[in-house]
Amino acid sequence: MNFKDLREFILYLEERGELRRVNAPVSWDLEISEITDRMVKSGGPALLFENVTGYDVPLVIGLFASPKRMAWALGVEDLDELAGRIQGLLSMMQGPPEGLVNRLRTLGQLVHLGSFQPKTISRAPCQDLVIEGDEIDLFKYPVLRCWPLDGGRYITLPLVITKDPRTGVQNYGTYRLQVFDRNTTGLHWQTHKVGASHYRAGSEMGLDRLEVAVALGGDPATIWTGSAPLPPGIDEMAVAGFIREEGVEMVKAKTCDLLVPAHAEIVLEGYVILGEEREEGPFGDHTGYYSMEDRYPVFHVTTITQRRNPIYPAIIVGRPPMEDYYMGKVTERIFLPAVQAVIPEVVDINMPAEGIFHNLVIVSLKKEYPGQARKVIYGLWGLGLMSLAKTIVAVDHFVDVNNVSEVAWRVANNIDPSRDVFFANGPLDDLDIATATPKFGSKMGIDATEKMVEEGRRQEWPPEIVMSRQVKDQVDARWSEYGFDGQLDSSRPDPDR
Ligand SMILES: Cc1cc2nc3c(=O)[nH]c(=O)nc-3n(C[C@H](O)[C@H](O)[C@H](O)COP(=O)(O)O)c2cc1C
Repeated sequence: MNFKDLREFILYLEERGELRRVNAPVSWDLEISEITDRMVKSGGPALLFENVTGYDVPLVIGLFASPKRMAWALGVEDLDELAGRIQGLLSMMQGPPEGLVNRLRTLGQLVHLGSFQPKTISRAPCQDLVIEGDEIDLFKYPVLRCWPLDGGRYITLPLVITKDPRTGVQNYGTYRLQVFDRNTTGLHWQTHKVGASHYRAGSEMGLDRLEVAVALGGDPATIWTGSAPLPPGIDEMAVAGFIREEGVEMVKAKTCDLLVPAHAEIVLEGYVILGEEREEGPFGDHTGYYSMEDRYPVFHVTTITQRRNPIYPAIIVGRPPMEDYYMGKVTERIFLPAVQAVIPEVVDINMPAEGIFHNLVIVSLKKEYPGQARKVIYGLWGLGLMSLAKTIVAVDHFVDVNNVSEVAWRVANNIDPSRDVFFANGPLDDLDIATATPKFGSKMGIDATEKMVEEGRRQEWPPEIVMSRQVKDQVDARWSEYGFDGQLDSSRPDPDR
């Protein structure tokens, strides 16, 4: 399955009972947030609000807010399928292929890959209508005020498109936009994001403007790539094409030298003036706290293009778990093979919802030598946006990183705090609420693996309590005899070490 645009995905979800239309009048001002928060937290469907008071543009929200919907958005039933494809791609790229057959197969795959590249077309649905000059009014779209202390209304699911002024390579990032007035917004790209690096590069080169386009809607894989922390220079649209197994169709923006997804619902075109910044916020953020006012660039919208009857896509973030958790889970799953390519002893990674990605990372590793858990933790701190991880907990390969109860048990048992908890300083996420020095601060590594003699182990690591196989088999065989049927679970997994 592969979706051409947002509409196809909406219909697909609706047919499967995963999207509900809401005809009752609802307000963009907090009401949609409260409804969506309840829906997301209770595992409910995506919502298409067809009657936002004062608007004739419907609003869709919750598209990605479950593991199933997120997987469907990327054309699979299960995200592990996608991770497997990425693993295959990476292994294909590692080392010389052995033998002629393999080489030919690789060549075939590369040609196949070539067909996933973005394609530029000349006429696109996202340019059905062109709105310019005094006609531009961002308040014609049902932009949400999400939380009571928010400083205004925010476009929350944008794909912000900029071009690296040094290389001409485009980037696509999901950065919120606070609507200041009919034709300007804040542009909240944080320090470590690629859009911000384009802005800094433009300033260094003495440019006075950076062109910006913002796509709202499009096929769901394309929308998702905006949130993926791809290394700068890797084209998000090529990744979206790889995921969809079909190139994303792009079109040249009407008034700037940028390519935009042809099947978007709405495209905002314009620029930021380098050096012009304005107070943005507060915003109820994905930390579960408000991000307070801060200065960010101002996006001047000079043209809007859109489909004839556009659908406005939105998301809310807030106290986890929220929809962004499911979007981030994909990143965690499909980036695991890439992490393993550089830190091969890594077995699995979990970023629990409560850890909001940058606060807590749990990693398991196959440990073979002293200090290896620290090597893995420091290695992760050197990898892209993992550098922002405030706490990294390392456990042995046999620990299920997704079982937070097991992780807590292992950590509490296995650490000698003064030896196994260690600190480092480094970059911190702009949204960190605890540091005294914004964007910079301390990080904590916790080595909760079983210790080797060289790591200061005083005695044999005590055996873990596990019932003998013989007794387990005997109890299994006699279970119904005990008269517990239907009351107790007879199966207890063996720890697999
Ligand atoms: C719903 C949602 C909203 C986000 N909002 C922002 C934001 O306002 N500012 C920001 O810097 N990152 C935000 N992010 C995270 C970025 O999209 C993410 O870090 C992505 O990697 C940025 O793209 P880049 O790596 O090309 O810079 C958001 C992510 C999601 C899923």
